Amino acid sequence: MAEQYMVGVGGVIASLLGFVFLYCNSLIRFRGLRKLNRAASMEFPKKNSVNKTGKSEGVATADIIIVGAGVAGAALAYSLGKDGRRVRVIERDLNAPNRMAGESLIPGGYLKLIELGLEDCVDEIDAQRLLGYTLYKDGKEAHVSFPLEKFQSHVAGRTFHNGRFVQRLRKKVASLHNVSLEQGTVTSLIKENGIVKGVQYKNESGQVLAAYASLTIICDGCFSNLRRCLCYPKVKMLRNSC
Ligand SMILES: *[C@@H]1O[C@H](CO)[C@@H](O)[C@H](O)[C@H]1NC(C)=O
Ligand SMILES: *[C@@H]1O[C@H](CO)[C@@H](O)[C@H](O)[C@H]1NC(C)=O
Ligand SMILES: *[C@@H]1O[C@H](CO)[C@@H](O)[C@H](O)[C@H]1NC(C)=O
Repeated sequence: MAEQYMVGVGGVIASLLGFVFLYCNSLIRFRGLRKLNRAASMEFPKKNSVNKTGKSEGVATADIIIVGAGVAGAALAYSLGKDGRRVRVIERDLNAPNRMAGESLIPGGYLKLIELGLEDCVDEIDAQRLLGYTLYKDGKEAHVSFPLEKFQSHVAGRTFHNGRFVQRLRKKVASLHNVSLEQGTVTSLIKENGIVKGVQYKNESGQVLAAYASLTIICDGCFSNLRRCLCYPKVKMLRNSC
């Protein structure tokens, strides 16, 4: 049992990173909604936006374009695709992300995965069950267990390599018929009368393409240039915080 507790300060830091990571993702989603409200009433910088008459080749339209297939983008694409919507996901790099982020998932995160039908994404990635923490100080130690008594035994936290988890999420996304997942770098939003109609992007061969949809969702992380052209961020983001 003891080895199933995360040990020491390193573990706590990793978990905090996990928390920050999940928190950032929900923040982005929350901001996305606010952005929609604000976009209607405010003028934003024109950088990173082009008019529809741009010199790019149009491709088939979708209901929803999602820019970025990280934890937020992939999970969202999966949910919307399962609802029968046609979703086009454009991700800059489909290789496994290699960074330290979200290495640990608290039990609430696992329950959320179940809700989304994504709980098998923690399988086959060497994920370790996480039942609580052990804190050490001045030669003493304290165990903190997650209150899991009323849940089935598979409900617990998990620790894993973020990149492996993201790849599992992407695989689930790619398995849906109505969702297309492709590698491409989105360079700008396409706007018509101030309304976002889609994105302009470069595909793997460097071809500039345009994709159109009724709704475009930007999930490309803290340092998104696209988001910067839609709103003025008021929160100062620390580098490497998520
Ligand atoms: C888009 O078109 C409008 C009006 O035609 C123009 O004012 C604006 O500068 C154009 N934006 C870009 C990014 O070309
Ligand atoms: C894809 O969308 C169509 C409607 O456009 C729907 O009939 C079909 O069931 C959807 N397929 C899946 C796998 O969700
Ligand atoms: C990029 O787009 C062009 C034009 O649609 C297409 O011919 C080419 O195969 C695409 N490249 C990749 C890697 O998908």
